[in-house]
Amino acid sequence: MVRRAFTAALAAAAFTGFATAAASCGEGSKCPEDSPCCSAYGQCGVGAFCLGGCDPKFSHSLESCHHGPSCKSGDFKLSGLDDVQSIDKYLGDASKINWQSQGKPVIYDNSLLLTMAEGTVGTLLASTHYVWYGKICAKMTTSQGKGVVTAFIMMSDVKDEIDFEFVGVDINNAQSNFYSQGVTNYENSANLTVTDDTVSHVHNYCIDWKPDTLDWYIDDEKLRSLKRTDTWNATSGRFDYPQTPSRIMLSLWPAGLPTNAKGTIEWAGGEIDWNSQYMQNGYYYAMVEEVTVECYDPPPMAIKKGSKAYLYTDEAATNNTVEITDDLIILGSLYASGEDPDFGATTKSDAPMPTKSIDTVPGGNPGGGGRGEDVSSAAASATAATTGAGASPTGGDNNNNNNNNGGNDQNFNQGNNNQGAGTALEPGFGKLGGSALAIIVAVLGLLVL
Ligand SMILES: *[C@@H]1O[C@H](CO)[C@@H](O)[C@H](O)[C@H]1NC(C)=O
Ligand SMILES: *[C@@H]1O[C@H](CO)[C@@H](O)[C@H](O)[C@H]1NC(C)=O
Ligand SMILES: *[C@@H]1O[C@H](CO)[C@@H](O)[C@H](O)[C@H]1NC(C)=O
Repeated sequence: MVRRAFTAALAAAAFTGFATAAASCGEGSKCPEDSPCCSAYGQCGVGAFCLGGCDPKFSHSLESCHHGPSCKSGDFKLSGLDDVQSIDKYLGDASKINWQSQGKPVIYDNSLLLTMAEGTVGTLLASTHYVWYGKICAKMTTSQGKGVVTAFIMMSDVKDEIDFEFVGVDINNAQSNFYSQGVTNYENSANLTVTDDTVSHVHNYCIDWKPDTLDWYIDDEKLRSLKRTDTWNATSGRFDYPQTPSRIMLSLWPAGLPTNAKGTIEWAGGEIDWNSQYMQNGYYYAMVEEVTVECYDPPPMAIKKGSKAYLYTDEAATNNTVEITDDLIILGSLYASGEDPDFGATTKSDAPMPTKSIDTVPGGNPGGGGRGEDVSSAAASATAATTGAGASPTGGDNNNNNNNNGGNDQNFNQGNNNQGAGTALEPGFGKLGGSALAIIVAVLGLLVL
């Protein structure tokens, strides 16, 4: 394990053009001032590290991370990539884009495919807006096969989490789960049986999340219910109940990589077969038709000083330490952070650029990826102006995702992007023996293969 972690650090360095390994962050260890933001992967950086997934508890200060853009109700049809932006392009302006991607989303038949080809770690789609209570539904199908996991989850920046997960060897059950601040609890998982399979039938999976109750639905049928009052944890003195603003995440990821923890591989049904009959056009895929969001009111005790974003006022990161503010943070470049949001903006062209490389995109930049809006000129020039950190290591271009809706099921056209190592986030942090770390190691380890 020690050796593995060391390799991962080197891999990270290689991937980002880094001379020294990034600082890591987590319980008892905060990020340093020059790379203040703690990513969901537990590594420090700037830019995208300070946006979705930036953990205020382990960042340099409570000012390091962005303030999560507030809930936006709507019916988000994923029939094109116009509303999807690759994570290395997004600078925090959720008014312009609703989804961020890492990996390779592909449009087929008016739906979005989360793809996972050999040598990649799948695809992650995350909302730019956060939900602080609401009903969130996804009409989707799952992938199939050993080691292949499809997920539809809600996850907060402090790792409160609500899950639907689908392991590719069991296409008749969704696994429901929840976590509080990333703490593993093996009791929280429950199987929800689907009448017909999850692969060839589109089902509507819904999470109905209120301050006091949490319900999981499949096709309008309530299959599981959780009460906040049943989650009291006397040790921590709080309810182990998801209670902080959370992003919507849809992903397809390789739990069955040989480099992953044994428990994770077993849970997922074994190691992935990269010559599987379930792959088409060279990849596994899951399909998302649309996501609907109905925002509920924030809890009555919420500190309301505005309406645009959520901000943590205390490291306790419980529901009563989240403030609703009008202070949105939009980064001037991928070298900025919440502490200095304008850093590297083109309007300040005399601003000095970092003289050493700093990580700007957690997990590295996706090799393929969403197109969405054009990269802002600020980000483009900041990237170009520096030493190559932030540049796509695979040379994968992001401007030719294919919108070809023709053809039949056997003939997805995936465009001509380089199939670089994408990066998808494992949803179940802390699951099965602390596999969050294992997955990060897997993700990074994969890059040296
Ligand atoms: C859910 O079903 C899988 C088999 O598909 C099984 O391995 C797992 O233990 C079940 N989980 C629960 C909580 O019953
Ligand atoms: C209660 O909280 C403590 C501290 O976070 C944690 O270690 C423990 O696992 C929790 N208990 C349960 C049953 O989840
Ligand atoms: C939210 O905060 C209030 C006030 O501290 C507390 O009474 C309530 O139990 C909290 N809710 C959860 C889900 O922890």
